Amino acid sequence: MAIDILQISKTALEEQKTNPNVINASIGMFFDEERHIGGMPSVSKALRALPDMSILPYPAVDGGKAFKDHVISWTFGPYEEQIRKEMFVDACATPGGSGAIASTFSVYTKPNDYIFVSNVRWQYDRFADRAKIKLFEHNMFDGDGFDLKSFDQQLGKLCETQKQVVVIVNDPCHNPTGYTLSLDEFKSIIDILNKYQNNDIVFLYDIAYLEYTSEKDKRIKMLELLRLEEHVMTILAFSGSKTFGVYGLRLGAAIGLTKSKGKIDHFRPSFVNEARGSWSATPTISIELLNHFSKKENLEKFNVELSQIKSIVQKRSELFISQANEIGLKTYPFRSGFYVIVLTDKPMDIFEKLVKQSIYVVPMENGIRIALCSISLKEIDGLPQKIKSLLI
Ligand SMILES: Cc1ncc(COP(=O)(O)O)c(C=O)c1O
Repeated sequence: MAIDILQISKTALEEQKTNPNVINASIGMFFDEERHIGGMPSVSKALRALPDMSILPYPAVDGGKAFKDHVISWTFGPYEEQIRKEMFVDACATPGGSGAIASTFSVYTKPNDYIFVSNVRWQYDRFADRAKIKLFEHNMFDGDGFDLKSFDQQLGKLCETQKQVVVIVNDPCHNPTGYTLSLDEFKSIIDILNKYQNNDIVFLYDIAYLEYTSEKDKRIKMLELLRLEEHVMTILAFSGSKTFGVYGLRLGAAIGLTKSKGKIDHFRPSFVNEARGSWSATPTISIELLNHFSKKENLEKFNVELSQIKSIVQKRSELFISQANEIGLKTYPFRSGFYVIVLTDKPMDIFEKLVKQSIYVVPMENGIRIALCSISLKEIDGLPQKIKSLLI
């Protein structure tokens, strides 16, 4: 289903200008309870205060040493030292997490290859289409948890026919379901990746929503990456768009992590070449924004604002899920994050009916995706009931 999410949202925002009752639950951007997008004032302030030299010049293609160090520290947090001690790490700035995904496909696949994805997923299909590669699916859920058996069996099948396999895992706060793997499930995934030693596994770990998880230690899973063996090259796709709420700025990074010296030596020139030959360089202002918030004195304010946003999104999801449960509206298992999926076998039909009521969502394979990040508690109140009435 080739749906243009950005277009749905644009239509909704346009209609909202003349009709304040429009509910735009289509897009993964945080809007506050008053429909303002600048949920993190310290970010807007920092952007406006950057001097010309932090905005106008060309940056280093990979973002430069300071940026690379900062994004690595940001991602691994308290576990950075241990990770750097035991593994090779490098990074390359990209225009959003999207740039990290597109370049991973470009560097590690060739036309007609298959990449390994879950049957419920964000639009990796778009990136695959451009790279002329195909998708090989595993089932995502077994009851209320992750279907590890399907993950293992299907990966086994693919590994029999293809030597190098890109495996995508989007966690925490999986888009579009809001599912977060338990630590045990994540450990099992690592064990499974380790099994396929005769293959070259590229583990594309999409952590776009890392900051929004309700796990106690957001980065505890990073320690599990230390167990990955030499046949695995991990690429973490970092999204500054989601982290800082700067969706249009285009800030991201591909972070390479491996025990293989050969694989990390290949990573750096490949990603720099990829960047130089396509988008050229990530905007200087984006790189400098991350550098700015990597300073302890700036980070504190940001963290306060981030936790406020998180708690608003959490309240919204609690309201939606509790009302959905009360009336028996079925969703995929939800833990935390920006989205929830309401299950239906007529997604297009429900989408169109909702549009008639000025409610914009995203139709997906087996349901409709509601972006809780972008609608207020007032808008959520009663929404499950409105959807339920259309399903009957
Ligand atoms: C799962 C997932 N990964 C990656 C991205 C890429 O985000 P961006 O390119 O804006 O950083 C998104 C954006 O919606 C996403 O939902």
